[in-house]
Amino acid sequence: MTSPLRLGVNIDHVATVREARGGAYPDPLRAAQLAEAAGADGITAHLREDRRHISDADIDGLMAGLSLPLNLEMAATDEMQAIALRHRPHAVCIVPEKREEKTTEGGLDVAQDENRLAHFIAPLRDAGCRVSIFVAADPRQIEAAHRIGAAVVELHTGSYCDAHAEGRTADRDAELIRLREMAAMADALGLEVHAGHGLTYDTVAPVAALPQIVELNIGHFLVGEAIFRGLPEAIAEMRRRMDAARA
Ligand code: PXP
Repeated sequence: MTSPLRLGVNIDHVATVREARGGAYPDPLRAAQLAEAAGADGITAHLREDRRHISDADIDGLMAGLSLPLNLEMAATDEMQAIALRHRPHAVCIVPEKREEKTTEGGLDVAQDENRLAHFIAPLRDAGCRVSIFVAADPRQIEAAHRIGAAVVELHTGSYCDAHAEGRTADRDAELIRLREMAAMADALGLEVHAGHGLTYDTVAPVAALPQIVELNIGHFLVGEAIFRGLPEAIAEMRRRMDAARA
């Protein structure tokens, strides 16, 4: 039997709209509460080092006001580790971060930084957080994530989504095969498998159909689509498409 597929809604870009003007509107916590009512299973927020969208106060508010599990995305820095240890969210997803990038461009090079990352995640695990590592669909990175003791890998779906958006169908299909093989490999190692980045109504179904993947994290498209049909309906439609693909 295929396991259920959770939807984690990433609310970073609600905060992006707020930061365009400063002030307090729109509030990411209110978006998170609407997401819960619309069928989200979790909320993801990325506290970036430059605080370009989600702020420290947002994390305080989400921890205090949210009943869904929070997945805190962050870089592997001492500052972020201290914040995570103070809040102890349900999950911590370690991502690479570059100040000049618009979004998280690739997966974390775990293989390159194995010892440091093993020491970095140990206290988070001891504090009860499920530690997830955001990786490219690359066997070296998945094996390294397993060796350092992560519970979860999140597979970066950006290359698959970019190939789809640019009409490179052969590349898209090759990326999907890679995602399928790497989901199976990670699952065989005992890792829980998540996926996300760039997913839309048009790209979600083939990823949602991969049986080892138990969670998708989706943000930018949903916040964009909310402009046209409202956040609850944007999320509910994603949920329907995920469920249909899973069935
Ligand atoms: N998963 C991870 C680890 C991410 O860094 C992001 C982007 O912040 C997402 C999922 C969501 O990507 P998108 O906003 O493109 O849906």
